Amino acid sequence: MKKISVLGSTGSVGRSTLSLAGLNPDRFRIVGLAARRNAARLLEQAQKYSPLAVALHDREQAAWLRQQLPGTPVLEGQEGVSRLAAEVEAEIVVAAITGAAGLIPTLAAIQAGRDVALANKETLVMAGELMMREVRDAKVRLLPVDSEHSAIHQCLNGERQAQVKRILLTASGGPFFGKSLRELSEVTVQEALNHPTWKMGPKITVDSATLMNKGLEVIEAHHLFGLQPGQVEIVIHPQSMVHSMVEFVDGAIMAQLGITDMRLPVGYALSYPDRCNLPVPSLDLFAMRPLEFHPPDPVKFPCLRLAEAALQQGRTTPAALNAANEVAVGLFLEGRIPFPDIPAVIEGVLDRHRPRDPESLEVVLEVDRRSRLEAHDLAVTRM
Ligand SMILES: NC(=O)c1ccc[n+]([C@@H]2O[C@H](COP(=O)([O-])OP(=O)(O)OC[C@H]3O[C@@H](n4cnc5c(N)ncnc54)[C@H](OP(=O)(O)O)[C@@H]3O)[C@@H](O)[C@H]2O)c1
Repeated sequence: MKKISVLGSTGSVGRSTLSLAGLNPDRFRIVGLAARRNAARLLEQAQKYSPLAVALHDREQAAWLRQQLPGTPVLEGQEGVSRLAAEVEAEIVVAAITGAAGLIPTLAAIQAGRDVALANKETLVMAGELMMREVRDAKVRLLPVDSEHSAIHQCLNGERQAQVKRILLTASGGPFFGKSLRELSEVTVQEALNHPTWKMGPKITVDSATLMNKGLEVIEAHHLFGLQPGQVEIVIHPQSMVHSMVEFVDGAIMAQLGITDMRLPVGYALSYPDRCNLPVPSLDLFAMRPLEFHPPDPVKFPCLRLAEAALQQGRTTPAALNAANEVAVGLFLEGRIPFPDIPAVIEGVLDRHRPRDPESLEVVLEVDRRSRLEAHDLAVTRM
């Protein structure tokens, strides 16, 4: 029985994880659950899965939850979420908090010697060198949950890293694939949230619409698989059936295909190197529409170019990119800036950024804080 803590249990990946655990009760036991403020959903989850402890970032909601859950420790605040990640006896921690808020709890889990199933790509973007160093020092496993990185992980199984020529990272293209620049200037929040193939939380859904999600994933792949920036190529594949591919030095390409259900990559990360039973429908090859593959358009989707440039520049530039993106996406979701201002704000922050060596958590957090302020200032001047 594998003991699992889920950080971000009330979100989209968190709920997929709990559904997977519910389908495999003889295999997985949920021991810790953490969220930001959705106390009602966390209560339901705690009643169903009986964890050893739960945590809420929001202290008022934590106080309410404590009254509802006598007998279960309810930790609170950021330190409570980190303590849950570190102290509750899990064999693996699912890192499914959105954005930079996930960095400190995820590092806490790693430093406590726990394997991590990583959905939260933003943490690797902002502090990739630091996190990979902690993973090596603590001798733990960092297993990808992102469906593309899970696909790459599966294609690389049993292969030699030195024989990888390149990674073909697939992207659905999001809801705005094929739109003109003029059409893109007028898209609404509702349209951006209407992803054609995946049901996900709002931040990653907007990232998919700008293609920043793919840019973040290129940086994530660089850290997870030790790839050089030029070794990752993005391929727009609107059907989202090929989850990614690996090309080897002899020209052979391995691909991983499957339905769009996050329980598959979560299950692989939690069971690795095994696989777990999942009663999901098989991919119906005969009903498949023709599979299409297109190059991305960096003029219409400048976030891709910005992320690739940030990776090339390295040091703290990816942390600045991530912070600026989180602020710009938040303002877009609030209806305060139009869609094309997302890359404009990020580019403005990157133009001002003076890269430093990301040698410590303090440096990364300072860059994150400063870049957020600059992104706000830049956005306000455009409003
Ligand atoms: N959704 C997908 O299919 C998918 C696929 C691949 C990768 N990812 C990545 O997985 C991560 C989660 O995505 P999602 O779509 O599941 O997001 P989501 O639905 O918005 O859920 C986010 C979760 O994080 C919690 N949270 C936010 N801030 C927190 C904090 N400071 N402390 C503790 N918990 C906090 C939220 O709690 P509340 O509910 O209380 O706010 C919620 O449980 C992202 O990094 C995303 O890029 C997602």
